[in-house]
Amino acid sequence: MRIPWVLLAAAVGLCWAQAPKTNPFAGDRNAAETGRMMFRGSCAPCHGIRAEGGKGPDLTLGTYSHGDSDSDLFNVIFNGAGGTEMPDFGARLDADDIWRLVSYIRSLARRETATLRGNRESGEKLFWGKGQCSQCHRIRDKGGRMGPDLTVVGRLRSLAYLKESLLDPGADITSGYPTVTVVTKDGKKIVGAQRGYDNFSAQLMDTSDNFYSFLRSDVTSVKREFKSLMPAYRGTFSDAELDDLLAYLVSLRGEGKR
Ligand code: HEC
Ligand code: HEC
Repeated sequence: MRIPWVLLAAAVGLCWAQAPKTNPFAGDRNAAETGRMMFRGSCAPCHGIRAEGGKGPDLTLGTYSHGDSDSDLFNVIFNGAGGTEMPDFGARLDADDIWRLVSYIRSLARRETATLRGNRESGEKLFWGKGQCSQCHRIRDKGGRMGPDLTVVGRLRSLAYLKESLLDPGADITSGYPTVTVVTKDGKKIVGAQRGYDNFSAQLMDTSDNFYSFLRSDVTSVKREFKSLMPAYRGTFSDAELDDLLAYLVSLRGEGKR
């Protein structure tokens, strides 16, 4: 079937008309509230119920790797992010609803950025120096492997979550990182983060990056606890140092990304 050019042009024109450059609902509280309800249904499974991140990045930080303008946000929701889990919602939601989602995301960002007052550079020094965080954590190709890789932690986690990780690491253990303690037949005790665990065996890694694998039948005991091997840093850092460290962690958003 041949489509007359005029119709095609009109259709293209309509598509363009659907996506204005600025948010028609900017600053509209009702629109943000409707956006919040939609977010719960369609987006929370990946971005968290308060948009603070999960499988998808934290959207409350006020800065986005796909660009910071309203139309950048619109575009990534409309088109998705190719090669990632972020779906395209262009066919499922109409443009107004996508703008309402943008309004909601904006309403979160303002609050969060206000609390970010630390200095990134000082935070970086604390991470590799006084905090000795690199003993257990990697950023890109540097650091230890016992704890989670933090290369993109700023994209994945909220400020509140990161702060809690430092002050009270046991409160919310990163999934996959319980503590495993093995006592060998000759009475040696080995403590590390879980790397594998089943009825017959246990694998773990200690703070010196040593990997161990045991058969249960070969050892005296194996114990798994949902507590963290990360020391609590309450009292180690001043409030100002803590803010600096948080500013650094939030900035960790992966290579080539802001
Ligand atoms: C299946 C999981 C999933 C769902 C559902 C999902 N997202 Fe995402 N989203 C992601 C991932 C993963 C990324 C990161 C893409 C990347 O790295 O480029 C992302 C990225 C984004 C970004 C860009 C963030 C940035 O820093 O540039 C925005 C904005 C966003 N999503 C909004 C939404 C909204 C709004 C919804 C619901 C309508 C939604 N997402 C639903 C997984 C999801
Ligand atoms: C002795 C090892 C060790 C040291 C030192 C350590 N951590 Fe951890 N860290 C861990 C382990 C293990 C986990 C995973 C268990 C948990 O959730 O607490 C973790 C979790 C985290 C998380 C949560 C990551 C996520 O995605 O859920 C952050 C953030 C973090 N650490 C930051 C730091 C910072 C910053 C420092 C230095 C001030 C530090 N850690 C020092 C072992 C360590």
